[in-house]
Amino acid sequence: MAELGHEVIGIDVDPEKVAALQAARAPFYEPGLPELLERTMATGRLRFTTDMAEAAGSAVHFVCVGTPQKRGEFAADMKYVDSAVDSLLPHVAAGELVIGKSTVPVGTAARLAAKVADKEPGAALAWNPEFLREGHAVEDTLTPDRLVYGVPGGQGTTEGKAAKALLDEVYATPLKRGTPLIVTDYQTAELVKVAANSFLATKISFINAMAELCEKVNADVTQLADAIGHDDRIGRKFLNAGLGFGGGCLPKDIRAFMARAGELGADQTLTFLREVDSINMRRRIRMVDLAREVCDGSLIGKRVAVLGAAFKPLSDDIRDSPALNVAAQIRLQGGDVVLTDPAALDNARKAVPDISYADTVEEAVRGADVVLLLTEWKEYRDLEPATISGLVKEKRILDGRNALDPGRWRAAGWTYRALGRPRA
Ligand code: UGA
Repeated sequence: MAELGHEVIGIDVDPEKVAALQAARAPFYEPGLPELLERTMATGRLRFTTDMAEAAGSAVHFVCVGTPQKRGEFAADMKYVDSAVDSLLPHVAAGELVIGKSTVPVGTAARLAAKVADKEPGAALAWNPEFLREGHAVEDTLTPDRLVYGVPGGQGTTEGKAAKALLDEVYATPLKRGTPLIVTDYQTAELVKVAANSFLATKISFINAMAELCEKVNADVTQLADAIGHDDRIGRKFLNAGLGFGGGCLPKDIRAFMARAGELGADQTLTFLREVDSINMRRRIRMVDLAREVCDGSLIGKRVAVLGAAFKPLSDDIRDSPALNVAAQIRLQGGDVVLTDPAALDNARKAVPDISYADTVEEAVRGADVVLLLTEWKEYRDLEPATISGLVKEKRILDGRNALDPGRWRAAGWTYRALGRPRA
C-alpha cells in the first residue's frame, strides 16, 4: 500500500514482529519483501506500531489477520478477526471504511458490519478478499490478477457506492493498469475466495488421483498433465502431481468451507472436498510407503536424506507442509532422517525437533540409503546426479514433486522413483 503511494500504519499485537518491521526487517522469508520494506520505509509513508489508537484518523482500516483451523475441528477459528475488529472499532470514525481481507466463513462480513454499525453508524465495512500466493506476494499485491469488492447492500446502494469509491482510491494504480474488478455483495465476495482455493485444491487432487492410476499401469502423469493441459479449457497450471498441497491456506480453507456448508444446511454440497482432502493426504502415505519399498521393506535404521521442508519453494512456511510431514512419519517408522531446506530450517527445527538437520545438500545426503526430494526448490530441480553420486550409500532418489529428469538420474546409475511415473 505504501508502494502504491498511500500513507500506511501497520498494527500488530506482537511487539517482536513490530520491532523487526520497524527496523525494516521482514519477519518471514518472502522474495522481494525486504527490498520493498526498505524502499517504502525510507519514504516515511510506512511505519509499524502495537498501539491500536494510532489507527484513528485513517480513511480505511484493513483487517488482515489469520483464520487458522480450529483445533480438532474443520471450522475456521475466528478469534483473531473478532478481537482485531473489536479493538479497532473504538478508533473508527464516521466516513471511514473497515475492509476485511481475511479468508472467512460466508456470513462473517454481515456479522461484522452489524458490529461496525453498532459502534459507529457513520462508518462502513467492505470485504476485499486477498488472492496473493506466498513466494510471489509482492508481485501478486502490486499487480493483482483481479480485485473483488464486497460492498454493503451490493453496488446498487448509496452505501455500496460510497464504499466502492473509497476502495477505488486505494487501488487507483492497479485499476488504472486495467486490473479486472468485480463489485458485488458481501456474501459473494466471501465465497469467491473459498471457491477459488477449493477449485485449486480440487485441480491438484484430480491430477494426483490420475497419478495413483498411472502408478498402477506404469503410465506417466507428467505427460498426461501436459497433454490435457494443452486444452485451454483445462490449462496446465496447478496440474503438477506429487506430494500434494499444504500450507496455511488450501488445506484449512477446504475444511472450513465444508464446515460452513454444513452449518448452512448444505452439508452434501461439498462432500467432494472430503475426497479432495483424502486424495491429498494419501500422497504423503504413498511417499513413505515408497521410501520403505526401495529400502528393502524397512525404514528402521535407514539413513533418509530429505530435500525440502517448506510447503512449497520460495517460502519458509512449514504450516501443514507435506515435506515435513513425510519426514516426521519416516522418523516414526525408525528412519534416521537428515533434512535440509534453503529457507525453512529454523522453522522446521522448532516444529520437528527429533530429526537431524543439515545446512547443505551434500551434508544431508552423506551416507544416505535413499534421497527424497519433497519441496521443489530450484537448486534441487537443478541438482546434477554427479554432485551427490559419490556421497550417498545407495543411489536411490524419490522425486516427490516430479521435478527431476528421470532419464538423467537413471543414466547416472540411480534408482529413480516418482509419484505417478513409470518405474523404469
Ligand atoms: C494459495 C492460493 O494459490 C492463493 O491464490 C491464495 O491467495 C492463498 O492460498 C491464500 O488463500 O492466502 P499458497 O498457499 O501461497 O496460495 O500456495 P499455492 O501456490 O496455492 O500452493 C499450495 C500448495 O499446492 C503447495 O503445497 C504446492 O506445492 C501445492 N501444489 C501447487 C501442487 O501440489 N501442485 C500444483 O500443481 C500446484
